[in-house]
Amino acid sequence: MGMWVMSHVRSLTDLNFIVTLSHSRYALPRLRAWSRQLHSCLHINAMLLLRRCHSLTRFGPVSIQRHPVAPAVASCAARLWSNSSGDDQRSYQRAHSPSWRHGLAGLLAGTGAVLAYGLHKHKAEQVDTIRTPTLETTLPFPIFSQEEVTKHRSLEDGVWVTYQGGVYDITEFVAMHPGGDKIMLAAGGAIEPFWALYAVHNQEHVLEILSEYKVGELSAEDLKKQQAVKSSDPYSSDPERHPVLHINNLKPFNAEPPPEILSDSYITPSAFFFKRNHLPVPPVDPASYQLHVEGLPGGALTLSLEDLKTKFPKHTVTATLQCAGNRRSEMNTVKQVKGLNWGIAAISNATWSGANLRDVLMAAGYGPDVAQWARHVQFEGLDHDVTGSTYGASIPLNKAVSEEGDVLLAYEMNGKELPADHGFPVRVVVPGTVGARNVKWLGKIIVSSEESSSHWQQNDYKGFSPGTDWDTVDFKSAPAIQELPIQSAITTPADGAVVDRSEEEVIVKGYAWSGGGREVVRVDVSLDGGKTWQVAQLRTSDKGQAAEPSPPPGRAWAWKLWEVTAPLPPEAQELEIVCKAVDNSYNMQPDTVPPIWNLRGVLSNAWHRVNVKIREDEDEEE
Ligand code: MTE
Repeated sequence: MGMWVMSHVRSLTDLNFIVTLSHSRYALPRLRAWSRQLHSCLHINAMLLLRRCHSLTRFGPVSIQRHPVAPAVASCAARLWSNSSGDDQRSYQRAHSPSWRHGLAGLLAGTGAVLAYGLHKHKAEQVDTIRTPTLETTLPFPIFSQEEVTKHRSLEDGVWVTYQGGVYDITEFVAMHPGGDKIMLAAGGAIEPFWALYAVHNQEHVLEILSEYKVGELSAEDLKKQQAVKSSDPYSSDPERHPVLHINNLKPFNAEPPPEILSDSYITPSAFFFKRNHLPVPPVDPASYQLHVEGLPGGALTLSLEDLKTKFPKHTVTATLQCAGNRRSEMNTVKQVKGLNWGIAAISNATWSGANLRDVLMAAGYGPDVAQWARHVQFEGLDHDVTGSTYGASIPLNKAVSEEGDVLLAYEMNGKELPADHGFPVRVVVPGTVGARNVKWLGKIIVSSEESSSHWQQNDYKGFSPGTDWDTVDFKSAPAIQELPIQSAITTPADGAVVDRSEEEVIVKGYAWSGGGREVVRVDVSLDGGKTWQVAQLRTSDKGQAAEPSPPPGRAWAWKLWEVTAPLPPEAQELEIVCKAVDNSYNMQPDTVPPIWNLRGVLSNAWHRVNVKIREDEDEEE
């Protein structure tokens, strides 16, 4: 077919004719590939034409069915020849780009969050409705060498990847995806090593989406070479985990404890502490571990684990960590969001011991002169993707150096060395601040005038209006989440639980916490959906143990557990139990989810509600 096209196509009209004939978006990528070869003989940018026409034909089943391909191509050509501006093209793409494109972008970027949700629906809509007769079975794909594929590593030259011997042109994704920088990591090469790293992406519907971008086959010789380089499982050295954890994603490992276990202990046992990993757990040898501190006038400082333990006073802080995505599943019930479907237990409380970050920065040369220009302290983890790109985040300088900030370079959790999942041998603990900035497996600290340039600081963990969608979102427009808002949730009874009337009362338990060191001063609980309220009892220790002393103002880093024992209302057959917390700045939780819904499902802190059925005595006998 390639040869046929080469010998028969002599004009733009011929090209349009072929596109019209094919009536198939599946044939277009191949034509697009051949168009690259045609480019020189036709003296037009046929590739651009076809890409734009291809876009038109793929902007959704409805438009394809309503408009035959030929007019679409004609108008596309007209737009091309009328020299429309790049801005026009971009706004057209923004207006028509379906949000599942971000899904594939997420796959390639490895941001598991972007991938997991939403793809299926869009995919189903598209695949089910526009399977028209295609040239799929009759046209062979052109063959490309690895060398040719490697040439396509930029938007100008096109962005190609290979997967199991197929060659895919994903240029459109890269051009349109807001956080597209990571996609480029795979450009010009095989995608398998990325999918080994982000195993969640290796799913059927994802492959189906990718297949639409196929433009050729890799030469047999180069495929053999690729297969010889076996990609080993980067997760093989991940630690064992407790089987009670609810796994949201296995590789990378993301899991939360059952809620009723969470509120059993004021200090969460490390095995049950929620685990949120973006990458494989890096194996670190404590004997050769080094922490580098950079950006200060004294020059770089390198510390061993022993240095951290012996050269700086050891401080212990009880602090709650909460993932920005905690309770995301409730946002999903309002409207689908993209991200791991966390329940209410992506939050836990532990004691952390280590050196104060402030002390280490002082030892590295921090002084008032630095505060003149520096604004942020960046952290880099030792966990990395296939390209060596590490997890990173930053916090404001004033939090890092404040005596009241209590930021720790922790080497102990709950009185023992840090477990592998929680950052062994050293992690940052930034009390009162979103989990994402508490960088684990800490390798480097950089004092800087800039925030971390990492994906997780720039293009993730930010909040947006409920009206912002994936076509309009501009990650640059929102600040990175640091301090978290007031939060509370009911850990028991579980939603859908049944209480026997004969028990006469119901015991409701939960947790409450606020970011930024603001102390929870009250938790209100309702059994009737918010019509009437009672105040819960708060506790700051495990039962039978002395309560923790009240924290100094502005340094309440740990959660409070709470409990209410309430008589069952005589007439009620069902209870809608609701909780809401209040902190010492009188911040309160919003009552419903819709006004705080956001496309990434972060900062989900509406009143928590569970429905419970009351079983009457006669029900019991049935
Ligand atoms: N640090 C590194 N190096 N790599 C990571 O993937 N995840 C962050 C943060 N620190 C992460 C990291 C996120 S998003 C959260 S919520 C917390 O770690 C979770 O900490 P935990 O696993 O100890 O609960």
